Amino acid sequence: MPFVPKSIDSKAVHGGEARRYASRDGRVAAAPVAGGIAPSIGYVYADSDHLDRALGGDPDLYVYGRYGNPTVAAFENAMVELECHDMPERAGEYFALATGSGMAAVSLAAAACGVEAGATVAAAQDCYGATYSLVDQLWPRYGVRGVFVDATDPGAVERTLVEERPVALIVETISNPLLKVVDIPRLAALCHAHDALLLVDNTFATPVLFRPLAHGADVVIHSATKYIGGHGDVLGGVVAACSEMRPAFWEHQKKTGANLGPHEAWLLHRGLKTMPLRVERQCRNARIVADRLRSHPALAGVRYPGLPDHPQHELAGRMFGCRGFGAVVGLELKDAGREDVFRFLESLQMVQPATTVGDLYSLVLYPSHASHRALSPAQRAAVGISDGLVRLAVGVEEPQDIVADICAALEG
Ligand SMILES: Cc1ncc(COP(=O)(O)O)c(C=O)c1O
Repeated sequence: MPFVPKSIDSKAVHGGEARRYASRDGRVAAAPVAGGIAPSIGYVYADSDHLDRALGGDPDLYVYGRYGNPTVAAFENAMVELECHDMPERAGEYFALATGSGMAAVSLAAAACGVEAGATVAAAQDCYGATYSLVDQLWPRYGVRGVFVDATDPGAVERTLVEERPVALIVETISNPLLKVVDIPRLAALCHAHDALLLVDNTFATPVLFRPLAHGADVVIHSATKYIGGHGDVLGGVVAACSEMRPAFWEHQKKTGANLGPHEAWLLHRGLKTMPLRVERQCRNARIVADRLRSHPALAGVRYPGLPDHPQHELAGRMFGCRGFGAVVGLELKDAGREDVFRFLESLQMVQPATTVGDLYSLVLYPSHASHRALSPAQRAAVGISDGLVRLAVGVEEPQDIVADICAALEG
């Protein structure tokens, strides 16, 4: 029996890596500990039967870079191990495919799940800005009807499922940027009762905090650009779902070219190994920062699922267990407009104003100016994204330094 690690930390370190010991003449040949990069686009087979199997989609054989690659597959296999952490005996029933970005993952998942001309798709009203724009603006150009719903309200979700008959509901476990937490098991049951698939963007929770497939989600999506890569130097995405859905996903991926390259896959796989360490530290830091800033007189409020006054604090505790509440904090600057927020961003010394999350560095973003720029002011107001909201992605620095930099900028 091969040894299977029990903890997610060990799986993150070893996942997707086959031990490559070869025995020659009774001696064990050395093999590298760290996995390598296989950049080749083409593959040569000794016989046409194998080539035929490779062209037919045998996932163990490679034929052309857009159809699959061993370095990318190693990363995908590691992701399956993590997403199936709660059900290791069923890991063989699931697959993952890596994509060139998180948005490629959202697009691939939607296309493979029947979001096509004539269909309706529903999405959480406070989802990431580019996902919102896909549903609201881009997909309707191709004959898809998009509707939005407050995914924290199961009654509203049920009404949408009954009245709009969407083929799929897209939600984020922790929403960007309002940090609402949705009840995935409850939404999965509702979707399945009404013939809809539940697609969960788990970017902000990461598999460290929550694994949606074990709680009824049909598809899990990640922007691997964030906590998976973790160092702010590689763009990528991942989808994972049950194996029966693989042909539909693979067909779309190889026809649309929504692939991840082997060099990026290698970097993401390397990042994945330290993800539990980083996420645990970042969650702990975020909790300290949120707690310290909540009474600051320049702030009208602090949003963080780990604070007892967060509307889904209890739900988040139940879903994420003791691992944490995420590493993003929302700061509502009191009576602030665009100029005040710009002044705050420019006053920060260590925390950097940059449009991403999940890096080692602490970063801030102004949603109405950046991630949710494509929404009209009325759409932002309806969703609850105010002109004073700043998103703080907490890094791995010492939390007292993060707090001190923010307080100085608020006071300045
Ligand atoms: C929740 C969420 N989903 C998807 C994406 C898109 O990811 P990418 O930028 O890797 O395409 C982002 C990017 O910020 C995000 O925050």
